[in-house]
Amino acid sequence: MKSILPSVIAVSFILGSGFAHADAAAIYAKSCASCHGKDGKGDTKMGKKAGARDYTTAEGQKWSDAEGVKAILDGVKDGSKTKMKGYTGKITEAEAKELVAFIRKFKK
Ligand code: HEC
Repeated sequence: MKSILPSVIAVSFILGSGFAHADAAAIYAKSCASCHGKDGKGDTKMGKKAGARDYTTAEGQKWSDAEGVKAILDGVKDGSKTKMKGYTGKITEAEAKELVAFIRKFKK
């Protein structure tokens, strides 16, 4: 028993993080890709209209993780115009962090 326990913990950790990643991908595909694009370029009809950035470029990634989480939870406003609505209540802070990590991967 003593020798099995660490590997059980390791396996559940790997599975756990795997699921968390799949969640971010699923949320992104469902709620975010319409503007930000499946490839993160933001060149969808809605993305162009709203003014989404190109996340495949260094320029498009010029915001901090904290700013990204805040944008997802609180939304983004340009004066009185809402560029992106906030997802508080629908997306948890942990999920928002996962989404930011997911978006970072668009830039190779
Ligand atoms: C209606 C179109 C739209 C949808 C849907 C949308 N966004 Fe956005 N998002 C934008 C726009 C526009 C900005 C602001 C770009 C800027 O900074 O000028 C933005 C900003 C962001 C930012 C801050 C970094 C940046 O580009 O300025 C993050 C992170 C982000 N969105 C993630 C998401 C995630 C995750 C989802 C899905 C849960 C999502 N967005 C859904 C349009 C959208």
